[in-house]
Amino acid sequence: MEVDRRVFLATLGVGALEVMTPEDKAEALEHYMMDELDEPAAPAKPEVSDSQKQDGPRAPRGTGRLFMPREGLYEPMPDKPTLVDFYNLRFAPARHVLQSASHALKTDQPEKTVMACLLHDVVLNMIKVDHGWWGAQLVEPYVAERVSWGIRYHAPLRFYPDESVGYEYPEMYNRMFGEDYVPPDYIEQAYKYARAHSWYMDARLITLNDKYAFDPDAEVSIEPFIDIIGRNFKQPKEGLGYDNSPSAHMWRTIANPDRPL
Ligand SMILES: [Fe+2]
Ligand SMILES: [Fe+2]
Repeated sequence: MEVDRRVFLATLGVGALEVMTPEDKAEALEHYMMDELDEPAAPAKPEVSDSQKQDGPRAPRGTGRLFMPREGLYEPMPDKPTLVDFYNLRFAPARHVLQSASHALKTDQPEKTVMACLLHDVVLNMIKVDHGWWGAQLVEPYVAERVSWGIRYHAPLRFYPDESVGYEYPEMYNRMFGEDYVPPDYIEQAYKYARAHSWYMDARLITLNDKYAFDPDAEVSIEPFIDIIGRNFKQPKEGLGYDNSPSAHMWRTIANPDRPL
């Protein structure tokens, strides 16, 4: 995917770059790329103009797109929503996660990795800050422990190369910002913990498949993953959001972004 540096910087707002940490910048770029990939459903991007129209109040950058200004109402969810309903009605078109899971599937990676890729960034629809941790928590009650573990640690691992599997530090970060990234302590600590863990590869493969998941021309759908979801995601019979699990409230939030109470 090609990214126009000027257009991207304009989305951040005037003066934002100077006060952003390298971590903030890297996050903002990745989220911008994902929104670009899903453009038809994304909120309108600020225009680049001499008058710098974007230099006004704006939503915090950690806000998921379900809570951004939009036209029209959300489609109602079924009474007992399934994970597939969430893909179709709240995460769509979800090109980035579908493309990364497709790559894992095509390259014969373990089914649990396919499932992890499918889920790894869906929480960004709700919240972007610390998305590895939020994303893991969202799915934890419904997947194998190492699936949510991998989702949690893919976020810090993105910033550390691993030549043994062909994962390089994303050149895009250097190109866009022209500086070396120095991760904050909590990211580095999480990386070191994950690097030494026996499940390290569960998280690392997510970062690897991520590289192949920003293709604006690749057509993907949830259909090839229905059986894999059936085998790897414990769909609650009450519906996601209504099963009293530790993350049920998060699914209700995604289902009902307009609800004031
Ligand atoms: Fe991610
Ligand atoms: Fe991703």
